[in-house]
Amino acid sequence: VQIPTTLTAQVDAAIGGKTALNLPEGKNLVGTFTQPLAVLIDVDVLTTLDERDYRSGLAEVAKYALTLDDGLLTMLERDPGPVTRRDAIALEEVIARCVASKARIVAEDERDASARLILNYGHTLGHALERLDAFRGRAHGEAVALGMVFAAALAESRGLAPGLRVRTERLLTALGLAATGTLPPVGEVLRCLRLDKKYRGGVRFVLLEDVGRPVVVDDVSDEEVGSVLHEMGGAA
Ligand code: GLY
Repeated sequence: VQIPTTLTAQVDAAIGGKTALNLPEGKNLVGTFTQPLAVLIDVDVLTTLDERDYRSGLAEVAKYALTLDDGLLTMLERDPGPVTRRDAIALEEVIARCVASKARIVAEDERDASARLILNYGHTLGHALERLDAFRGRAHGEAVALGMVFAAALAESRGLAPGLRVRTERLLTALGLAATGTLPPVGEVLRCLRLDKKYRGGVRFVLLEDVGRPVVVDDVSDEEVGSVLHEMGGAA
């Protein structure tokens, strides 16, 4: 039985049976799929979560809103206040919506072969940033937030989802997350992306054709990654 006590775990990590360890070589490189008998979520425990961990969890909420739940996206864009203030009623709805989205995807693809890959939105770059910080720098959600801005910029550079980057940046900022940050040198990021467990010859990213319309692409070249990272302020 899982009793998650962080927002990240309540909306994402505790649902779907993934258990894993980070290795120095990369994030979540050793793991199993083990479904819990039950997941008990009590929003009251979030009242004592420190602000940085709480905001980190909001990045996963933003992920669900952008990829799978445009009703949630509209709700957060219209008034992020109740969620940022940890209003219990608002949180119950937000968490229940994220859990419902995740449960639907996991029921379709428990073992990460197809639909579940969508839940990696923002995580390809996010995991690389965490690893380059030796898992002691950016919090998971802080890295994923930058990863979602990167994915939005990459989608736009491929002619998809016009306006997605600005919309993503606005949402993250409204939720108290940084939408920009110092990036490691591009060469280091590329080396790290090749260690991602989902690397298959080209870097795999989840992109949005539009909000609520995720696609998995495996053909992103180093040049494309490098050019978007440069544009976001990454050094050569
Ligand atoms: N956190 C992503 C997944 O469970 O697949």
